[in-house]
Amino acid sequence: MILQVDRLHVGYGGIRALRGVSFEVEEGEIVSLIGANGAGKSTTLRTISGLIRPEEGSIFFNGQAITGWPPHRIAGLGISHVPEGRGIFSNLTVMENLEVAADVMKRSKQHLKADLERVSTLFPRLGERRKQLAGTLSGGEQQMLAIGRALMMRGKLLLLDEPSMGLAPNLVETIFETIVKLNEDGSTILLVEQNAHKAIQIAHRVYALKTGQIVFSGTPEHHDIDDILHSAYLE
Ligand SMILES: Nc1ncnc2c1ncn2[C@@H]1O[C@H](COP(=O)(O)OP(=O)(O)OP(=O)(O)O)[C@@H](O)[C@H]1O
Ligand SMILES: [Mg+2]
Repeated sequence: MILQVDRLHVGYGGIRALRGVSFEVEEGEIVSLIGANGAGKSTTLRTISGLIRPEEGSIFFNGQAITGWPPHRIAGLGISHVPEGRGIFSNLTVMENLEVAADVMKRSKQHLKADLERVSTLFPRLGERRKQLAGTLSGGEQQMLAIGRALMMRGKLLLLDEPSMGLAPNLVETIFETIVKLNEDGSTILLVEQNAHKAIQIAHRVYALKTGQIVFSGTPEHHDIDDILHSAYLE
């Protein structure tokens, strides 16, 4: 088991964002975490990557307790978080953004070159715009750069928060295809998506979060997609 989240409780001041959330991700899986606005999806990812400390509960990565570790140590283990709103450096160029990400993981020059090529192949637009300031990229291009940064970190576990948000339909398709490809290339993926239908389709397993609690877990093969959506958004 690459990730185990055990009875997490997280609050922001008086607001209870997570109330005893437990789930797990096996190595090699795409696991989708779906749920309505405010359900606690981003909070879950932020807690895993160390940006928020849980009040209670534990997080294990490959069996090691990482609860309360600082974000840079968690990133150093190979957990790459692509936050909602992208988390790129606006005042650095495309190329610099990618290099900084590789730097975090202390990649060699040779690997850096190969990884840069891989990112440019996946997202030719980024290759063409390598000298452009990231803050001047279009929304979709910034999203590609955010995913490109996670690729440069060679994340063993990618935490993707709404990667398709704000993108045109053809780019949404590209992003989902990219996620599947990354997974086939060996990255385990925990995906948070508003685009629940697509997120369920590409997932090996799905969890639904509702007001800070897991209300559904299962595999898309064994459940009708509409039933999953119903438990996440309606009941
Ligand atoms: N920094 C914060 N301070 C106070 N409350 C917060 C903070 N961040 C999140 N919350 C609250 O915690 C709850 C869970 O928020 P979270 O961002 O995890 O939801 P989400 O499932 O990612 O929603 P969305 O789909 O809208 O992104 C919400 O009620 C939200 O208002
Ligand atoms: Mg969110």
